[in-house]
Amino acid sequence: MDNEKRKSDHPVNPLILMRWSPRSFTSAPVPEEKLNSILEAARWAPSCFNEQPWKWIVARTEADRQRVLEVLAETNRVWADKAPVLLVLVSHTVFSRNGKPNRWNGFDAGCAWGYLALEAVRQGLYAHAMGGFDKAKARAVLNIPEDYEIYAVIAMGEQGPEENLPEELQERELPSDRKALSDMVCEGLYRETGL
Ligand SMILES: Cc1cc2nc3c(=O)[nH]c(=O)nc-3n(C[C@H](O)[C@H](O)[C@H](O)COP(=O)(O)O)c2cc1C
Repeated sequence: MDNEKRKSDHPVNPLILMRWSPRSFTSAPVPEEKLNSILEAARWAPSCFNEQPWKWIVARTEADRQRVLEVLAETNRVWADKAPVLLVLVSHTVFSRNGKPNRWNGFDAGCAWGYLALEAVRQGLYAHAMGGFDKAKARAVLNIPEDYEIYAVIAMGEQGPEENLPEELQERELPSDRKALSDMVCEGLYRETGL
């Protein structure tokens, strides 16, 4: 776990700095108990009316993985095909309590993904989310109902050696930095910058 390159301006839970999105994975299977803990962490995410609108489609058999790989953009497939687990994150766009649109479903699913990604690191694994996939194809191939939004495909497993990647991806295999906190926070009123 390489968090040397990430320094926070204020102290935070170390898992937050350890998490990043590598592209090189080993094909070592993810043990059942680790996968369960990772999905369990996401289960405890907060959600509007405690609706828990998200659902994870887990692909880890060869047939299931191939079905998911087929919907990925080629630029993602070239590296994600090594990952032993692929997850597809979908979320119910309608409240089950009253059938009205749930405009917070994406907010809730995103939070669940964040929990999942942090627990993955705690389990010695990495999770890399991808928006680069064919949504219509995913809906058809994975049998996803129309009232579920499809947010991301997530590659998960142990980090692999950089040399396993195509050359152009090797140089990008690094944890990234962040904008300044003052670019993300404003006090009292909306402002472009400034705490
Ligand atoms: C919704 C979403 C979509 C993303 N789509 C892709 C993608 O299609 N391909 C890819 O390689 N990375 C993708 N990423 C990874 C981001 O590029 C990455 O999280 C970001 O650069 C920050 O880097 P870090 O996760 O290593 O901290 C995506 C991340 C998110 C959250």
